[in-house]
Amino acid sequence: MNKLVIDGGVPIRGELTVQGAKNAVLPILAATVIANDECIIHNCPALRDVEKTDIILERLGCTLKRESGTLTVDSSCVSGCRIDEKLMREMRSSIIFLGAILAACGRAEVGMPGGCPIGMRPIDLHLKALKKMGVDVSEEHGYLKCECAAIKGCDIHLDFPSVGATENIMLAAVKAQGTTVITNAAREPEIYDLACFLNMAGARIRGAGSSVIVIDGVERLHGVEYRIMPDRIVAQTYLIAAMMTGGEMHLKDAEAAHMRAALSALSEMGADIRIGKREVDIRSTGKINSIHILRTMPYPGFPTDIQSPFMALAAIADGTSVFVENIFENRFRHVGELSRMGADIKVEGRSAVVRGVKQLCGANVEACELRGGAALVLAALAAEGRSTVSGTEYIDRGYEDIEGRLALCGARIRRVWV
Ligand code: EPZ
Repeated sequence: MNKLVIDGGVPIRGELTVQGAKNAVLPILAATVIANDECIIHNCPALRDVEKTDIILERLGCTLKRESGTLTVDSSCVSGCRIDEKLMREMRSSIIFLGAILAACGRAEVGMPGGCPIGMRPIDLHLKALKKMGVDVSEEHGYLKCECAAIKGCDIHLDFPSVGATENIMLAAVKAQGTTVITNAAREPEIYDLACFLNMAGARIRGAGSSVIVIDGVERLHGVEYRIMPDRIVAQTYLIAAMMTGGEMHLKDAEAAHMRAALSALSEMGADIRIGKREVDIRSTGKINSIHILRTMPYPGFPTDIQSPFMALAAIADGTSVFVENIFENRFRHVGELSRMGADIKVEGRSAVVRGVKQLCGANVEACELRGGAALVLAALAAEGRSTVSGTEYIDRGYEDIEGRLALCGARIRRVWV
């Protein structure tokens, strides 16, 4: 076990290169199973969730080789089609392997993913779509058993633009008989990155990034060499770190086009933001305005994943801000811990009213999920005095070497083993 020890009050100033996107690399690693060949993945972040995905790939019969930021996956000997429930429970987003394994093997057996701290995380939209594609799905003893001699392309309308469901359908459809059309598809940039990877591997996907995606099934895929897109949520987190502490940040390999909602909110809250070619600069102007209301929405709306870091910023803003969390039913778990640091936040159902305070004070706080944990680190950087943040296993799922990156920009932060 370890925790982060942070002595706050130091402006975060410096330059960082944004890591590869967790929510792009996970579905792309699942997709390597369909290639039945060697895939070379560059800009692959060193994250706990990637480590867990590597274990699943090895259990399915892939061989992996990592050389710093490059992961080579050879799926030419894929034989397995089962993911045990322990692995699925550890990382419920592994459900996106379902479509990939079905495309590769015609059958799959995966532990039911279950929920997580931020919500129930149902998969009804995934299963409804796969059944419509001809997959026979049964649930036995906590496992999903799926069989399909030949996946059939068809028209699928998603009741909600679910990221995972869109990805699972795309993965199942790439080798299907005929054409699959997804309407009301998720439009997140990570979906576009997955489609680019699949098309380079020989798939025929059009419209990714829009709400209508068309997939023409092909005979087979082949190996590719691919570079993962930058992580827009990590980028936004570091921009907020600079703003919260009265500092400045130059982000390299940052795609401003993926962050329009958050950059607009940061400007509204008083940040000075400059956008370059794959670069974003933020400078604190010394004041932090409250924001009238922030509603989380599917992309390109305000991302739910950056809600808690923004709430840490609003906690020291001048005035009152209102957050409405429309995506997940339990994504205010960080509020109690922020309150321990002196934040004044009232939660009413899906809304949180944040009255800015002059200064947060250091405290011992506990992360219980990924993005809420990042929010606690941000609050500790801005707080007066020392904080400790435990539950780093959650933060390490999505932030590569968070203490190393922040220390490079002047933060007094270290990881201690307890
Ligand atoms: C992806 O989760 C991301 N994870 C999440 O990031 C992100 O918050 C989320 O998309 C929304 O952008 C990965 O990409 C690995 P959804 P996913 O399916 O696919 C409901 C992070 O911090 N829903 O778009 O699980 C669901 O309950 C993580 O990096 C159904 O009702 O999100 C939720 O309310 C957290 N039935 C909403 O849709 C379904 O079958 C959004 O879920 C599927 C989803």
